[in-house]
Amino acid sequence: MTERIFVGVAWPYANGPLHLGHVAGAYLAADIFARFHRLRGNQVLMVSGSDQHGTPVTLKAAQEGTSPREVVRRYHSSFIDSFKRLGISFDLFTSTGTENHARVVQDIFLALLEKGHIYLDKVLLPFCLNCKRFLPDRYVEGTCPHCHAPGARGDQCDACGKPLNPSDLIDFYCGLCGRTPEIRETEHFFLKLTAFEEQLKVWVQQQKHWRPNVYNFTMRYLADGLRDRAITRDIEWGIPVPLTGYEDKRIYVWFEAVIGYLSASREWAARRGDPEGWRPYWERGSKSYYFIGKDNIVFHTVIWPAILKAYNGLSLPYDVPANEFLTLRGKQLSTSRNWAVWLPDYLDRYPPDPLRYLLSANMPETGDTDFSWREYVRRNNDELVATYGNLVHRVLTFVDRHFGGVIPETPALDEPSTQLVDRARATLDRVAALLSDCHFRDGIREAMSLSQEANRYLDSKAPWKAIKDDPASAAVAVRTTLAVISCLKTVFYPFLPFSSAKLHHLLGCEGDLDLQGWSFSIPPSGKKLPQPQPLFSKLDESVIEEEDRRLEESVVHA
Ligand code: MF3
Ligand code: ZN
Repeated sequence: MTERIFVGVAWPYANGPLHLGHVAGAYLAADIFARFHRLRGNQVLMVSGSDQHGTPVTLKAAQEGTSPREVVRRYHSSFIDSFKRLGISFDLFTSTGTENHARVVQDIFLALLEKGHIYLDKVLLPFCLNCKRFLPDRYVEGTCPHCHAPGARGDQCDACGKPLNPSDLIDFYCGLCGRTPEIRETEHFFLKLTAFEEQLKVWVQQQKHWRPNVYNFTMRYLADGLRDRAITRDIEWGIPVPLTGYEDKRIYVWFEAVIGYLSASREWAARRGDPEGWRPYWERGSKSYYFIGKDNIVFHTVIWPAILKAYNGLSLPYDVPANEFLTLRGKQLSTSRNWAVWLPDYLDRYPPDPLRYLLSANMPETGDTDFSWREYVRRNNDELVATYGNLVHRVLTFVDRHFGGVIPETPALDEPSTQLVDRARATLDRVAALLSDCHFRDGIREAMSLSQEANRYLDSKAPWKAIKDDPASAAVAVRTTLAVISCLKTVFYPFLPFSSAKLHHLLGCEGDLDLQGWSFSIPPSGKKLPQPQPLFSKLDESVIEEEDRRLEESVVHA
């Protein structure tokens, strides 16, 4: 039975190019998952977009002496270009700057206001006399009330990951000028989260299939007790509050960004000329998955579900497989210190699949993982080239040399060959089960271990020897290995789509690989194969030094 699967992916702030942390945190896992389900024949809708509001963008514009609009324009097109080159297969990658998004957000705002889930209240907020403005959350810094880390920001503490209100901070100061702001009264709209606390607890408790880090983090957050959150701000850059008398206020970026999942789905449907076509992905019978980094957990497991409950009966998240962080040679990636491998730079120099391979095998699913160029070169050379690529190349060149490039006729398969084909079939099922449950690292490990097994099989069959006095046995070895390779093409496809497409062609298959299904077959005798070509290229060890030097030369020392 085909399923409908909604895949929402974190909306990146349009304040800088993407780096490997973004890829490892959310985009790669989402893409693997979406490709897997599409190949399996399920209907997938995968959306995201640039998060163009919020202080990360206005700060960047201020630094550059340009407008937020200009910053957003530049990075939005950079995102689209990077996703295309890395093969991140969004059905729609839009932005929070569209009219459609503003309309959907304002509709939800008004609907919640009408139902009493949003209310107006007076608040005391930090106002910097020196900077002559109310300070957005991120511009207020101080000590975290939960973990007592210094330098926590008014929206969130990076040390313990808890969301904050600026007034929660101990000894707060203006992040722009360092002075202590005064506390002034203003008015804001609040989302009545408290009203949903009990329902949310009951709901989260049922989500036993969530990753333990996501489940535990959310339960702890709920156990601390929810508080109503202000969802408007006294700023200019953002979505206006759709009520007269509040022209100077904007809707808080986090309230509107999560609504992007819904507005993007509607935009996708409208663009296909089927304005109601988003509904099957949001109503009963569909499953929604949200791929995000661990710093975004409660926005997706508490706040977005609360908004959805308050609004109407649209589906709550089925799973939120948040990843932990990727570090770079043991240190936290930092945009401000320029300690990062930027995705556009990477893609200018190297092909996409080796990066997808490394980040899948090292995905920070259960804890932080580290990227280093040494590991990148090692995995490329030892695993992609020497194991998987070598298997493919040995067989294809053998067919070319000894059978004129035509898949040979074979007698019935012998015992070891049948066993290997069975093993391939089991791998197909196992990888499917792992990917369905968002276990990406284990999935790619299974796929690679089938390549190893097939190499061992080929070594023991040694068709290059058998070809002289037992050509039938050589033919069996070749055809069996081709069957396994055709299985590898499928199981690696979600992870390494470019290589699988190439292999699809090298195996002489016609038509789109994406339509062939989650399956493989023993290739037919008599089929002529194209000229063999290597699937992957070896990297010179000098890449390690060169890239390490590049990193060290560009890092800004604090
Ligand atoms: N822009 C936010 C970040 O980079 C993520 C927003 S995810 C969303 O942390 F779903 F809320 F949009
Ligand atoms: Zn100030």
